[in-house]
Amino acid sequence: MGNQIKKIGILTGGGDCPGLNSVLYGIMLKAYDAGIECIGILKGWKGFIDNEFIKLDIADHDDLHTVGGTILYTSRTNPFEGADSKEERAKELTKKFEDLGIDALIAIGGDDSLGVASMLYQFADAKVVGCPKTIDNDLAGTHYTFGFWSAVQLASNAMDNLTTTARSHQRVFVVEVMGRDAGFLAMYSGISAGADIILIPETPFDLEKDVIDVLKKRVNAGYSYHIIATSEGAYPNAESLDRDFKTISKKKIDKLPKDTFGNPLLAKLSMSKIIVDELNLRDDLKQEFQRNGVVFECRNVVLGHTMRAGTPNSFDRILGLRFGLAAMKLVLEGKFGNMVSLQGNKIETIPLSEGVKKKHITPENDKMELRDLLVKIRYLSKQK
Ligand code: F6P
Repeated sequence: MGNQIKKIGILTGGGDCPGLNSVLYGIMLKAYDAGIECIGILKGWKGFIDNEFIKLDIADHDDLHTVGGTILYTSRTNPFEGADSKEERAKELTKKFEDLGIDALIAIGGDDSLGVASMLYQFADAKVVGCPKTIDNDLAGTHYTFGFWSAVQLASNAMDNLTTTARSHQRVFVVEVMGRDAGFLAMYSGISAGADIILIPETPFDLEKDVIDVLKKRVNAGYSYHIIATSEGAYPNAESLDRDFKTISKKKIDKLPKDTFGNPLLAKLSMSKIIVDELNLRDDLKQEFQRNGVVFECRNVVLGHTMRAGTPNSFDRILGLRFGLAAMKLVLEGKFGNMVSLQGNKIETIPLSEGVKKKHITPENDKMELRDLLVKIRYLSKQK
């Protein structure tokens, strides 16, 4: 058979995510059953380079699938950073399998971490298998990543809860939701909580038309409090940025620092704070509120890391276990260079090179239409 697997390594890379431990447990269940030893490589690709690992004995980890975070720790280390030749670096890195004493590796991560696994396979034929993880749900090739629905639920609950304080004070709350440059988290949690305006990166917004105008129409229709859900990566279209924004310029946006994989650190911008600052400068908006008996008051709330925190929900526990089981089976079958994915309700196998591609909300996604109707119909239906 030529696929002599006795010991495997598992690593978790990128931002932590509810369900990581569930995947680990799924892998460990199948590995134990097949008589395979598991080690956990610590801190993602950092531990892979530095030979940092722990022995994973399933007897020590009962019900690990119910626990949040990752017991293997994680990092955003990019082992290809600064490499002149990706091929050379991939070959050097693949020698680490021997140092670690492993016959195969399961990498659990988002596009960045799985991109590393994909290059190890492409350039050095490494025995790697991937498992797609991110609360952002922005990975092509899988309908959902585990962790996404737990994060959606947390953000939706936060917005539900914020309505009571928004109502009590008759305030506008701008709630900033994670997701980098993909709008899945803001869109799904915003629709779920019935947010009044939902801003996502895929549809650059017009401050005048999509925010100020809608708030004016809503206050005229009798609404005295409002929840705006915004992706951390939402940004205005070029025309609006130029015309409506006094507190930020394109130059400032372009100058954002980047992480080790080259992604702009969008959260540093705090779009929710910028929107609040801009709205506070608008006397016409304040007057419209005043005319309707409401004092204009606006606050921002950044949900940030609370969205990744805590235990996975049942969907993510089960999806994590299923992914772990399927990833271990790929190893046993010698199907390296692949990753597991969810297609409909089936776990399928796709090449890592396909799976690491990014995914965004597209215009034909019915959530786009739902959002637009949800925002519009409430104030339109109440117009006298
Ligand atoms: O990719 C997951 C994610 O949670 C993004 O939504 C967010 O922008 C980023 O990670 C935050 O990363 P960090 O925890 O490194 O600040």
